[in-house]
Amino acid sequence: MGKDTPKVYADFPKNYSLLDAGGGQKLEKWGEVITIRPERQAYFKSGILFTDWEKQAHWKFIEKSGQKGVWKNLNPSAKNWQLEIEGLKLNLELTHFKHVGLFPEQNINWKFIQKNLHPKQRFLNLFAYTGSSSLVAKAKGAEVLHVDSVKQLVGWAKTNMETSELSDIKWVLEDALKFAQREAKRGNKYHMIQMDPPAWGLGTKGEKWKLEDKIQELVKTCYEILEPKGWLILNTYSPSLKLAQTRSIVKNIFRNDPETAAELWMKTETGKDMYFGDLVRVRK
Ligand SMILES: C[S@@+](CC[C@H](N)C(=O)[O-])C[C@H]1O[C@@H](n2cnc3c(N)ncnc32)[C@H](O)[C@@H]1O
Repeated sequence: MGKDTPKVYADFPKNYSLLDAGGGQKLEKWGEVITIRPERQAYFKSGILFTDWEKQAHWKFIEKSGQKGVWKNLNPSAKNWQLEIEGLKLNLELTHFKHVGLFPEQNINWKFIQKNLHPKQRFLNLFAYTGSSSLVAKAKGAEVLHVDSVKQLVGWAKTNMETSELSDIKWVLEDALKFAQREAKRGNKYHMIQMDPPAWGLGTKGEKWKLEDKIQELVKTCYEILEPKGWLILNTYSPSLKLAQTRSIVKNIFRNDPETAAELWMKTETGKDMYFGDLVRVRK
């Protein structure tokens, strides 16, 4: 994170707000529900006092072991609820991994998909989680393939499709890289591929992998299965993979300067800047 590194800011999607952050936590509003969650990037002082956070919030995530934890109820609220975003009805719930089923900074990608993906084009969402980008692409009239290695998350994405009154997304429960490699062998092509791989991942058989070991192969395979002029949208969030490295991997494989290679940030309502990983967008 150098001071000369390019930055892009994601706006809040409708019905979501990053109210404040600081002291290793963030305060967020999802429709009517307000949560407090641990956040390593919030190493600065919060804009509002924690006592005031707790008066507003309904749920606070308390970390127990590793990434797991429990939610403490602070004010009356349901444990699952629906959030309307981009005309979609997404189902949110409190998970043991501190997530609620949506990454709001992805708003920057939803806007990009809405602008640059055209009806009938093919969209591949790798590491697709609960499917927000798959749904945005489907609502645009694209042909959508959604790939994730966790069965429960594919189920969650299907529910999001149904409540959003969309249909015909193709679901693939598989390791993202293996699937992309198979698509390359089959000669299938896409107009836009989005991927948001975790820093450490698990395949369907629980095999462990690290992003820095896989990124080269992932980008190379995406290049192969992109149509000419097709877009790759790559989000990374790994302490072992710097933006400059990702940028150079992409540039070498695409033999083209990425259109965007920047850190992704959001600003809290209280004016604090928070880092949300890196974003690289490149055209074949
Ligand atoms: C950071 S989340 C992606 C969030 C997504 N961009 C969104 O906003 O909805 C990473 C996802 O990758 C999935 N995943 C992890 N390892 C995988 C693998 N090897 N193949 C496919 N999916 C994987 C996880 O199940 C998780 O859903």
